[in-house]
Amino acid sequence: MDSAATRESNYALGHSEQELKRLSHQGQVFAPFTRQLFEQAGIGQAMRILDVGSGAGDVAFLAAEIVGPSGEVVGVDREVAAVECAVARAQDQGISNVKFLEGDPAVLEFDRQFDAVVGRLVLMYYPDPVDAIRKLAQHVRRGGLIIFQEFDMENARSFPTAPTFDRAVGWMKQTLSATNTRIQLGLELYSVFLAAGLPGPKLRMDALIGGGSEFPCEILAAAIQSLLPMMEKLHIATSAEVEVSTLAKRMHDEVIAGKGVVLSPALIGAWCRRV
Ligand SMILES: C[S@@+](CC[C@H](N)C(=O)[O-])C[C@H]1O[C@@H](n2cnc3c(N)ncnc32)[C@H](O)[C@@H]1O
Repeated sequence: MDSAATRESNYALGHSEQELKRLSHQGQVFAPFTRQLFEQAGIGQAMRILDVGSGAGDVAFLAAEIVGPSGEVVGVDREVAAVECAVARAQDQGISNVKFLEGDPAVLEFDRQFDAVVGRLVLMYYPDPVDAIRKLAQHVRRGGLIIFQEFDMENARSFPTAPTFDRAVGWMKQTLSATNTRIQLGLELYSVFLAAGLPGPKLRMDALIGGGSEFPCEILAAAIQSLLPMMEKLHIATSAEVEVSTLAKRMHDEVIAGKGVVLSPALIGAWCRRV
């Protein structure tokens, strides 16, 4: 059974206030990539969109801007704290063409179909992404769009090696893998779509790269902070080793000293139309 306790223990990032802030910071940084993906795939004015795993609301807000006042976005997240955060942000920003629901959209029923189902960094947390996408596709009308954007975490690295950055990436990958997260789902999306009975999707790939102090190391440090309780529980690293309060600065200092560059995980976008 997928009890609340099991789900909580499997979703290693949690939903603390700090994590929800990190998600919205990450959302701002990745927004151009997600916007380009949506526009390339064919999201447009007046569409009705389902956002799977809406978190702090960033993907839903972006989609709401593209579909405009005559369109509508429904964001769904299984965690009440995420839904409350997204609702409050929508109110603060006066965004009226978006609403948020609590639950798993793969099992929820909706009164009518959507023009598109979208999701960013969410299928990687489903125990069976093929089954999930097969169910989620049922919410889309024929000819409608199915669009997901997921990580290939193996893309995250420094050059030349900045040991603190690479160690932090290693902790993150280990903790997520140990909690059954698919850290390279981006590369699996093509086969996942096919296995779910969908057409082979089109693909695009984006990543951040920055030299010296340009790269937002604080997003990685904040992810490590969110993962730390699980990291300690699984004996992957201790808070003394991680020293989270100085982690971002130490990563930046090393990259600057090495005149190096840092790359983020790749964000791989996949999309097709339901036949
Ligand atoms: C890493 S966050 C990404 C949030 C948002 N999509 C973004 O890119 O900013 C993943 C979110 O998916 C939610 N999630 C994971 N599995 C889910 C499921 N089976 N049903 C609904 N929400 C889920 C988590 O609760 C979390 O808020």
